[in-house]
Amino acid sequence: MKKILKWGLLAIILCIAGLLLFVSFALPNVGEPEYLKIEKTKERLVRGEYLANNVSVCMDCHSTRDWSKFSGPLTPGTLGKGGEVFDQKFGFPGEFYARNITPSGIGDWSDGEILRAISSGVDKNGRALFPIMPHPNLGKMDREDLYSIIVYVRSLKPIANKTPDSKPDFPMNFIINTIPKKAEFSHKPSEKDVVNYGAYLFNAASCIECHTKQEKGAKIEGMELAGGFEFIMPSGGIARSANITPDHETGIGKWTEQMFVDKFKSYTDSTYVPNKVGKGNFNTVMPWTMYGKMKKEDLKAIYAYLKTVKPIKNTVVKFSEQY
Ligand code: HEC
Ligand code: HEC
Repeated sequence: MKKILKWGLLAIILCIAGLLLFVSFALPNVGEPEYLKIEKTKERLVRGEYLANNVSVCMDCHSTRDWSKFSGPLTPGTLGKGGEVFDQKFGFPGEFYARNITPSGIGDWSDGEILRAISSGVDKNGRALFPIMPHPNLGKMDREDLYSIIVYVRSLKPIANKTPDSKPDFPMNFIINTIPKKAEFSHKPSEKDVVNYGAYLFNAASCIECHTKQEKGAKIEGMELAGGFEFIMPSGGIARSANITPDHETGIGKWTEQMFVDKFKSYTDSTYVPNKVGKGNFNTVMPWTMYGKMKKEDLKAIYAYLKTVKPIKNTVVKFSEQY
């Protein structure tokens, strides 16, 4: 009996060791980067600048943000240089650094390697990237849009800045290897197909990542877009994402299209200056100053899409000084 137990235990240990070896060495497995030579055109540059700054907000994470001001606007002259830190202080399972994506940082990457990084979540050397960068969503965009982003990123002013290497904690250092997935690109719907076009932008902007509450890194089923995700603010206090389902009392069900568009635009009209936020006063991770420059038609499409999602009752207190 004892012997059986011993062998059983050994078998279990071997299985676990085998699994860990597999996860460490065989994964991630998203294939080789494609051989690509993306032609640099004016259209792509313009589209890429728009997407990277105002829709998929790459620049939001990959630049320096000034958290002493409302919504952490970008510090001029830091575009793409990397540096936003996501670590244990903010509840992440490790230390993750948004990296330098100016030509000083990834100038020697091929177009295929950049495409693979943003759409499948592995770096040039095949190392898994932590999905703070929402690569599962970016990998569902239209190739053409991602090509535009790459053309734009390559056009950034090179800024010499070495970011530290990201370090996932145990057991995330194993789990992380199971996250990268092959991209499944889509086709951007026609702008006339307003709801589907809105859904496309909503995915490209990863609104769902912040607006759905998570437990242990997984979105809570049945709470999609009902808000309540907590963010420890660099300027102190806890911000919670709003309920953006069409629920009339606790969501944005009573908002008209005009109110929705105006809310975003209020952070970008020519007279708006992000106010200083004192320690522990209301601040937010919602990048209003960036999304606020989205085209009106695009914001309207997102609104139209949000009207179609399931209303969920969930009252959220958007900010408190402490837990
Ligand atoms: C919410 C924050 C966030 C957004 C938005 C974001 N990234 Fe990232 N990105 C990161 C983080 C954090 C890493 C590093 C992850 C790690 O090391 O595990 C990263 C890694 C990368 C890398 C790999 C660089 C390297 O040297 O390994 C590239 C390239 C990149 N991002 C480009 C982009 C582009 C282009 C976009 C927009 C389409 C974008 N990112 C949007 C946070 C973000
Ligand atoms: C980085 C996290 C994050 C992302 C990404 C994000 N939001 Fe938010 N959002 C928040 C937080 C936190 C709040 C609550 C505080 C505030 O009002 O700024 C909020 C508030 C809002 C509000 C205000 C609702 C109200 O009742 O006042 C709307 C509308 C909204 N978000 C829509 C969106 C849309 C649409 C997107 C995608 C284009 C998006 N959000 C992406 C974090 C985020």
